Amino acid sequence: MAVRPTSPRTRIARLRFPLRGRRVDLVIPVPPHVRSFVALLNDPSVARWTLHVPHPYLTRDGQKWVRHATAGRRSGRWLGLTVVRRSDGAVLGGVGLHDLETGRTRAEVGYWLGREYRGQGYATEAVDLLVRTGFRRLGLHRIEARVFPGNAASRALARRCGFRYEGRMRDEVQKDGCWRSTLLFARIASDPPPRR
Ligand SMILES: CC(C)(COP(=O)(O)OP(=O)(O)OC[C@H]1O[C@@H](n2cnc3c(N)ncnc32)[C@H](O)[C@@H]1OP(=O)(O)O)[C@@H](O)C(=O)NCCC(=O)NCCS
Repeated sequence: MAVRPTSPRTRIARLRFPLRGRRVDLVIPVPPHVRSFVALLNDPSVARWTLHVPHPYLTRDGQKWVRHATAGRRSGRWLGLTVVRRSDGAVLGGVGLHDLETGRTRAEVGYWLGREYRGQGYATEAVDLLVRTGFRRLGLHRIEARVFPGNAASRALARRCGFRYEGRMRDEVQKDGCWRSTLLFARIASDPPPRR
């Protein structure tokens, strides 16, 4: 008899938040985070390397993101989380797993940190935690990261988190009206954990 796969929606509903790392927690985005999102995301370095972050970033963009994350979580299609530093509760950035769909066992990871919080390993910790949750709790088998070629920090982060480079996808997306190629990285559930 065929076994009906547990839907991502059910698996997400079973998660208990916060997801706890060593120094960071991943928490559900809520309206009080919006002020921090606006302060951190008004730095053009995030819009430059991502597809859906506008610049300038306004309060209404942050509010929309919170609503979008709530809807994505409830439908089971998308898990967007806020990265919070445990020691003082500061909002550091965001991470997410996109394209979670019933019957599929792959997803794409996205991530960003406010500039002042970069270079300290917080993103590595947050992405690691999310990816482990994706494999162990959401039943994913393959997680991909797509990175614009010039984004050295993101390429390095993907490798630190155990993602392997699989190739360049030519003219894969349009950004600001221009075709852009992306570099595809992926990690498989059975890959050895990253060595650091
Ligand atoms: C991509 C991005 C999240 C990477 O942030 P980051 O700060 O480089 O990543 P981490 O927080 O993991 O920090 C890693 C750095 O901290 C250092 N570090 C310090 N302590 C560390 C620790 N305990 N563990 C890991 N790294 C540590 C590492 O050596 C590394 O520095 P290096 O790059 O000089 O070698 C960030 O550059 C960003 O938000 N960019 C804009 C948005 C973006 O590009 N998103 C991705 C789209 S694909």
